[in-house]
Amino acid sequence: MHVVILGSAAGGGLPQWNCRCPICSLAREDSSRVRPRTQSSIAVSPDGERWLLVNASPDIRQQLFDTPALHPREGLRHSPIHAVLLTNGDVDHVAGLLTLREGQPFTLYGTSGILDSVNANRVFDVMAEDVVAREPIGLDATFEPVPGLTVTLFSVPGKVPLWLEGETVELGAETETTVGAMIEANGRRIAYVPGCARVTDKLKSQLDGADVLLFDGTVLFDDDMILAGVGTKTGWRMGHVPMAGQNGSVASLAEVEIGRRIFVHINNTNPVLVEGSPERLAVEAKGWTVGYDGLSLSL
Ligand code: MLT
Ligand code: MN
Ligand code: ZN
Repeated sequence: MHVVILGSAAGGGLPQWNCRCPICSLAREDSSRVRPRTQSSIAVSPDGERWLLVNASPDIRQQLFDTPALHPREGLRHSPIHAVLLTNGDVDHVAGLLTLREGQPFTLYGTSGILDSVNANRVFDVMAEDVVAREPIGLDATFEPVPGLTVTLFSVPGKVPLWLEGETVELGAETETTVGAMIEANGRRIAYVPGCARVTDKLKSQLDGADVLLFDGTVLFDDDMILAGVGTKTGWRMGHVPMAGQNGSVASLAEVEIGRRIFVHINNTNPVLVEGSPERLAVEAKGWTVGYDGLSLSL
């Protein structure tokens, strides 16, 4: 099985278009200190030929250009992308669907909770319904979006997408709106969880035994955004568990049997993005890799 991290940043990317925080500034000035990163997406294939895209980011056009395995290969119009799966309805995960128009057949998968928000928005009808089938998938049911690749979706603590928030928002709810995906081929398993508000015992048992975990690395501390002076929201309010602290992902997942652990969906305010920073070295010392665009694994 092959996996490529197409985009390792959270919503906004790195640098974010309007941000002059120290990390965004470094990403503009010195890519040896902070590598620029595009928004959240991975591609997975059982054979290197047929690919599943998980999440369609606003940067998808550039991501596909930068990834030769995803270029058209035959005839006049073609794509090795056979299917697209959504793990939530956030802008950084769905806006790229608009780029996947142009009459190319593929199947779009997601829970009803996620697909309903896409279906309700007519701008997504640019993916013509007679060429792009939309296939709702139940939680905990295994399906095969690409021959030889099976996927099981499981709910993780989260919230509705920011653009669908009402006056009150339920935080940390385990519903169909935020899911993780267990992706399997040839007896190997990759768990992809780009958004998760809390590490629960249920989640730990779900991740147990995975060969690779790609996990929510939005914030180091719950108050990263406040410390950076760019906002007032905590990680919890945004539906993202911090890396650090007693209930953070690094400590909570330490005892879970996982082959390789990689942070993805990293917000541009997260100090682990700075190469060689004490924060980066601390998470690496705990066995984590800070994901970057183009990181690919074959397993
Ligand atoms: C998130 O992951 O919290 C969202 O992508 C935020 C957003 O929609 O900008
Ligand atoms: Mn996001
Ligand atoms: Zn920034």
